Amino acid sequence: MTDDALSNLLHEERRFPPPAEFAAQANATDALYAEARADRLAFWERQARELLSWDTEWTQVLDWSNPPFAKWFVGGKLNVAYNCVDRHVEAGHGDRVAIHWEGEPGDSRTLTYADMQREVSKAANALTELGVGHGDRVAIYLPMIPEAAVAMLACARVGAIHSVVFGGFSAEALRSRIEDAEAKLVITADGGYRRGKPASLKPAVDEAVAASTSVRNVLVVRRTEQEVDWNDDVDVWWHDVVDRQSDQHDARPHDSEDTLYILYTSGTTGKPKGIKHTSGGYLLQTAYTHRNVFDLKPDTDVYWCTADIGWVTGHSYLVYGPMANGATQVMYEGTPDYPEPGRWWDIVEKYGVTILYTAPTAIRTFMKQGDEIPGRRDLSSLRVLGSVGEPINPEAWIWYRRVIGGDRTPVVDTWWQTETGAIMISPLPGVTSAKPGSAQVALPGISAEVVDDAGNVVPDGHGGYLVLTEPWPSMLRTIWGDDQRFIDTYWSRFEGRYFAGDGAKKDEDGDLWLLGRVDDVMNISGHRISTTEVESALVSHPKVAESAVVGASDPTTGQGIVAFVILRAGAAPDAAGGSEIINELRDHVAKEIGPIAKPRQIMIVSELPKTRSGKIMRRLLRDVAENRELGDVQTLADPTVMNLISEGMSSSS
Ligand code: WTA
Repeated sequence: MTDDALSNLLHEERRFPPPAEFAAQANATDALYAEARADRLAFWERQARELLSWDTEWTQVLDWSNPPFAKWFVGGKLNVAYNCVDRHVEAGHGDRVAIHWEGEPGDSRTLTYADMQREVSKAANALTELGVGHGDRVAIYLPMIPEAAVAMLACARVGAIHSVVFGGFSAEALRSRIEDAEAKLVITADGGYRRGKPASLKPAVDEAVAASTSVRNVLVVRRTEQEVDWNDDVDVWWHDVVDRQSDQHDARPHDSEDTLYILYTSGTTGKPKGIKHTSGGYLLQTAYTHRNVFDLKPDTDVYWCTADIGWVTGHSYLVYGPMANGATQVMYEGTPDYPEPGRWWDIVEKYGVTILYTAPTAIRTFMKQGDEIPGRRDLSSLRVLGSVGEPINPEAWIWYRRVIGGDRTPVVDTWWQTETGAIMISPLPGVTSAKPGSAQVALPGISAEVVDDAGNVVPDGHGGYLVLTEPWPSMLRTIWGDDQRFIDTYWSRFEGRYFAGDGAKKDEDGDLWLLGRVDDVMNISGHRISTTEVESALVSHPKVAESAVVGASDPTTGQGIVAFVILRAGAAPDAAGGSEIINELRDHVAKEIGPIAKPRQIMIVSELPKTRSGKIMRRLLRDVAENRELGDVQTLADPTVMNLISEGMSSSS
């Protein structure tokens, strides 16, 4: 972001206090901040008692005797699936809809909490029959169908650890995740619907497990009825194995610190990190934030989080948080614009959605399409709007509130990460006077700060790095199989504090503005992809000698991937062959990582700007990619390199 854009942001004067009627009925009041400030651990303890059902109470709220390895609710025991499903049935809410599922072709299914209890129990019995039990890893590679939530909860029920892999990831990305976690079972489907067509999943699984030594079975849900290859030694159909199971299953309690799941996310090196989350603290903070940030009223609200289950937002705000709270929610399989751009607004109208949680990229896309499309639908049921995944610019915020929220709904801009497990910084809709573009303040019970390079807290009106200064219940416990990387990545930059990797500013009121990543992680449409990951994919192509990748700002997707590539001798194309090789390389990246990682632009260059010590100067490449005046080139080994690159860039665009 340029300094001008930033100071414009920080002079954002518009304020949106909560409407009085909203504030009067809100779950969260101002008193929460004071309570948490007075005694943070007692605050979390009260929340844990009120929001969750425990089989055994903890003996200690937080064990921080061996930082950065935290234990929350030590000695406590609970079953996460029981908390998300059974207890709502026991409390008399078995007939309440848990999931209004909408398939892309227009088919739909309704599952009540009683249905969920039966489905999750059957799936848990099937896991047992397949030899999957406590501590075993299960990879889940599914489209957005109810079985995805059922499979996750069935794992939680038996104490197996799920590792959900986004269905848009490639066979290779799936393979490396299966291998890292040594998964015993893969749960997948023949395919799912995307943009009006069945997209296959099973072939990628076949490829990913072909050489696996850990995978014993692949459990396949039938969704699209596509032809699939079948390996009788490994493959089993969901409808053969799960449907015939008993719908009774005894949910045994598991330890509060038992691993609930692993979710891989991009870091600054090529190898994705398996973020490990555990049970009690994670479920507590997802439930607490879901209830207070979205003001959930389980009897009357219809909540819709548009995230895919393959990302952390799908884990925390489609499965665990909402279900722990007994919410009624919408789950949608497909793309926002199929069969036409108003599909989401049809869904809001059809189900009477009251709370909508989505990403700025989607909001900016709708904004470009104009007010008429949502304007033709009745969106008056909406009462809270949420945003997540990337900074939301004030204009998109204002548009979201005005056009989607009818100028009436609070908008909550929620900052968090795969690693934090749940929302950390956000307004409370009945309390905070909202500032478009700012996530504002840490939630009650959470401690965040902005520090300078030396780790000193910056005064109001200044910027630096976002850190979290106290452990929180849903924090990652480690990186799967790599404690040292956990320490190095998050806890070594600033002594005793968690380094989030985000830049931030505090304005004159002390409100926080999140400014994007300060490391080599890009944020494309709210998806984290590291520059090194894309670079390694590019150099794995036989024609590529070297590559450098940067995230260039993009008005819709936040950032776009721009790659600079040096070809091997002999591979250099003539003018006509240039676009051919560029397409070949883009497809190669899609094959290695997934279509979301395809570079927006690939530049074939003869040199890359390097310092005398051989480090690539990405800053300069970003200047080129964003058509900016070049910054300081003094430290370059060969300052003329940049002229060559800039010339190449302008002739290709
Ligand atoms: C960015 C998604 C600004 C941030 C839940 C963070 C945000 C990364 C916001 C985590 C927000 C997320 N404002 N930036 N409200 N929410 N981010 O792990 O850079 O996919 O570090 O988790 O997204 O992405 P992740």
